[in-house]
Amino acid sequence: MTTTDLSPAPGPTVAAPAVRLTGVGKAFGATYAVKEVTLDIRQNEFFSILGPSGCGKTTLMRMITGFEEPSEGTVELGGAPATGVPPHKRDLNMLFQSYALFPHLSVRDNVAFELKVRKHPRAAIADAVRDALALVRLDGYGDRAIAQLSGGQKQRVAIARALIGRPSLLLLDEPLGALDQKLRAEMQLELKKLQREVGVTFVTVTHDQEEALTMSDRIAVMDGGRVLQVDTPEAIYERPATRFVADFIGTSTFLTGVLEAGGLAVRGLGVLPVPGAGGAAGAAGAAGAEVHLAVRPENVTVAATAEELPTGAVALPATLQQTVYLGHATRYHLTLADGSELLAESGGADRSGLSAGERVWAGWDPERSRVLAE
Ligand SMILES: Nc1ncnc2c1ncn2[C@@H]1O[C@H](COP(=O)(O)OP(=O)(O)OP(=O)(O)O)[C@@H](O)[C@H]1O
Ligand SMILES: [Mg+2]
Repeated sequence: MTTTDLSPAPGPTVAAPAVRLTGVGKAFGATYAVKEVTLDIRQNEFFSILGPSGCGKTTLMRMITGFEEPSEGTVELGGAPATGVPPHKRDLNMLFQSYALFPHLSVRDNVAFELKVRKHPRAAIADAVRDALALVRLDGYGDRAIAQLSGGQKQRVAIARALIGRPSLLLLDEPLGALDQKLRAEMQLELKKLQREVGVTFVTVTHDQEEALTMSDRIAVMDGGRVLQVDTPEAIYERPATRFVADFIGTSTFLTGVLEAGGLAVRGLGVLPVPGAGGAAGAAGAAGAEVHLAVRPENVTVAATAEELPTGAVALPATLQQTVYLGHATRYHLTLADGSELLAESGGADRSGLSAGERVWAGWDPERSRVLAE
């Protein structure tokens, strides 16, 4: 039997993701640098890959560029399979971890390099270089030698050079790694602004959580070759999926116990309330499972008496070990009855009147804590 399908094509058509990774893994010998990575990077997104040194960030980027073929899984670019497509045939550019400018060429010749290799007409190259330099706010720097530039300016030249061929996708591996803290913070805002202006999908790699939070639309957090969570900066911070994420992004302290009907039973501390209307029922993990309660220091209050804690707060006796002034806040290092450590924080200088060695009370709103199964 034959049928004729007269129904319209399925629609509306959604733009294909800029990058789709499906079950991607890379083994070097017997060890995996990247394992089972499945994620989409959307068109025009500022996407960051965040994780500690050696977790597989560069390897993952190199598989997107084609400098490395996955041992397992597939890479799609703009909806088309990228397997077997060499790097120069992919509609992307990559700024390497140690971005190398040609030191003997001027700013202009560095930026023009790709278009010259591709034998674009001279006038078109001159226009493109002027536009690219304006984009990175280096108008008038074309004749300068690379050696006459500051670190931040060199960085901008490298970005202009990477953008001049107008790739749909730009991969930047630790783009601000060589810069000092203050310049880094400035360039983070500039990069984000630039990305909005050019409308190119940016994928950056960083091991700096603040940088990822500042620049990204979404962040993938990696550890040990795996992607643990992909989400917006706010969701990653407020709702970390695992203990590693809760600790790597910002600071958390963890109380480990077993979920039961009334909350989390922690040996030596009793049963602590957990977030969610139904107590433990609303939390991650089944009753009887060992889980971690993650609490951020900025959500923990310390006081001389339990009565001084906010109403509705969990109240635990503690010993104040140390008070550390951080400038924008004061951090209190506490030990609880079971010997575990808890961090508390309050804005600005210390006004608690408490001193080290003192018996105090620590408390937090259970809704501001988070139950993590792993
Ligand atoms: N060509 C290679 N041969 C063998 N092992 C490799 C190769 N490239 C990377 N690795 C290993 O794979 C792991 C991940 O390396 P990768 O460079 O991707 O890490 P990274 O997250 O970029 O780290 P960093 O932040 O230090 O740049 C490391 O253990 C590294 O030693
Ligand atoms: Mg790297």
